[in-house]
Amino acid sequence: CGIVGIVGREGVAGHLVEALRRLEYRGYDSAGVATLEHGRLERRRAEGKLVNLEAKLAQAPLAGAIGIGHTRWATHGRPNETNAHPHATKRLAVVHNGIIENFRELKAELEAAGVRFESQTDTEVVAQLVSHLMDGGLGPVEAVAAALPRLHGAFALGFLFAGGEDLLIGARHGAPLAIGFGEGATYLGSDALALAPFTSELTYLEEGDWAILSRAGAEIRDADGRAVERPRQTIATQAYRIDKGNHRHFMGKEIHEQPEVVGRTLSHYVDLAEGRVVLPEALPFDFGKLNRLYITACGTAYYAGLVARYWFEQIARLPVEIDVASEARYREAPLERDGLTLVISQSGETADTLASLRYAKSQGQHTLCVVNVPTSTIARESSVVMPTLAGPEIGVASTKAFACQLTVLLCLAIAAGRARGTLTAERERALIDALITVPGLMAEALKQEGEIEGLAREVARARDVLYLGRGTSYPMALEGALKLKEISYIHAEGYAAGELKHGPIALIDESVPVIVIAPHDGVFEKTVSNMQEVAARGGRIILIGDAKGAAEHGLDTLATLTMPDLDATVAPLVYALPIQLIAYHTAVFMGKDVDQPRNLAKSVTVE
Ligand code: G6P
Repeated sequence: CGIVGIVGREGVAGHLVEALRRLEYRGYDSAGVATLEHGRLERRRAEGKLVNLEAKLAQAPLAGAIGIGHTRWATHGRPNETNAHPHATKRLAVVHNGIIENFRELKAELEAAGVRFESQTDTEVVAQLVSHLMDGGLGPVEAVAAALPRLHGAFALGFLFAGGEDLLIGARHGAPLAIGFGEGATYLGSDALALAPFTSELTYLEEGDWAILSRAGAEIRDADGRAVERPRQTIATQAYRIDKGNHRHFMGKEIHEQPEVVGRTLSHYVDLAEGRVVLPEALPFDFGKLNRLYITACGTAYYAGLVARYWFEQIARLPVEIDVASEARYREAPLERDGLTLVISQSGETADTLASLRYAKSQGQHTLCVVNVPTSTIARESSVVMPTLAGPEIGVASTKAFACQLTVLLCLAIAAGRARGTLTAERERALIDALITVPGLMAEALKQEGEIEGLAREVARARDVLYLGRGTSYPMALEGALKLKEISYIHAEGYAAGELKHGPIALIDESVPVIVIAPHDGVFEKTVSNMQEVAARGGRIILIGDAKGAAEHGLDTLATLTMPDLDATVAPLVYALPIQLIAYHTAVFMGKDVDQPRNLAKSVTVE
């Protein structure tokens, strides 16, 4: 979703819509604006594309010199007007991007206190919470300050208050937000692109910051409420369309965008209020009737498929066959008529993936693609398209597209489990609850970045690096090794931890860092044994995972990256982040061109 806010001159509604048009790439299923007319809150909202909102505004214009606006991806197929933003009470209006993961608890608490709700959304909970605090006597700024620590998840917010002609509040907690400074006007926006028509003077809020905007400027506070200064930058006009925010590389920016884009993708596949997966498109086949699922893809997308194999087999008891597309296309594997082939691709243009899709069709298979570019060839030629809503990915090494692929694949596995009767409603609810916490956990995992930067100096010295994992952490080990190879040019191998003793253990000495991916799952103890084998041979272990569990086993590691506690099923989504950051910081430290590594291309349209 995209959010915008302006405190400026009369006629602000037109400018809000102009900014929203530039944010439409973030979603176009519904849109809305709110302004103050003589201190009173007024809203216009419309389902569908922005033109519908414009038509409404033409019929019933909004006056006002201050306002907020929003454009939204449909969450689970209900892009209706009641669910469109801004959400409002008589005291305030709010726009929101991301997921408030504890909204059901907050809603129950507010309902018990007599608050009545209009919609099913997590956003309305924010509006009602702040409103309720104001009913209790707090002013707008105090009420927001009191409400923010109660909201869990990854999100960005914008607030407008009845009677507050010179006050907007914006908050960043896992999803980006920028402040723009103009002549007698101050702006809030999801990105620089939204604010380009008005100003080139920007400040990006940092994680946990919130800001109090007036026409004279902005006062920024950190998560503890302390006033802080954040650097102001001037954005060059030509840089708007592909903007790096306050990151040095696209890859860095894309790694940090993951809480936001995974939240966005989740909202597209999950009915938050019901705690159920609701696929955005009807399926022309029945998961319940499939004997087997064929998956094919290349590179990072292939590793997403390997993770999904565990999910489909465990959650839906659906046997999976998977191969890299360059092999799948020539293997002449017999595929059953009316079976299902699933292809995964960021670009949707990869030649081998496309060829294997065409082969599957020639065998009479249904085809389902998980793609990031909905207009791509693979999307056009597949019978069902399940989009990842990662937004444009510029860095050659795939990061946020991978996380979104995993998100969609887990939702599909859950849908398959339901259709095949292997998943109870309670387990589905528990999985959804776990999924909803992912954006927040990702934001949490990103806090390890400082430590990873230090560690990268060690990794940079190595000639070879081993990555180990079991279960879904095995494909994550493969992905970790691929990321490091791609951008740092250090030789790296991913292995199933249990396979170590069948060969690779011969490589181990003090010069080979061994990166072990070990969440607290059903095979954790087994992985611990493998780590002991490494340690006994002088190997230097970098553990990503459950530090407490490892300490209990007396494991001595070179470094431990402690990950937040989570349901092990969603571990690959959160563990992807430290894995990506290790590769990223190693390459940056070595002075490599991380966004455009040698010999590689973002979209490989040759065989
Ligand atoms: C290229 C990129 C990889 C990517 C692979 C598949 O080789 O370097 O990062 O994973 O293509 O791309 P796709 O667009 O099909 O996901």
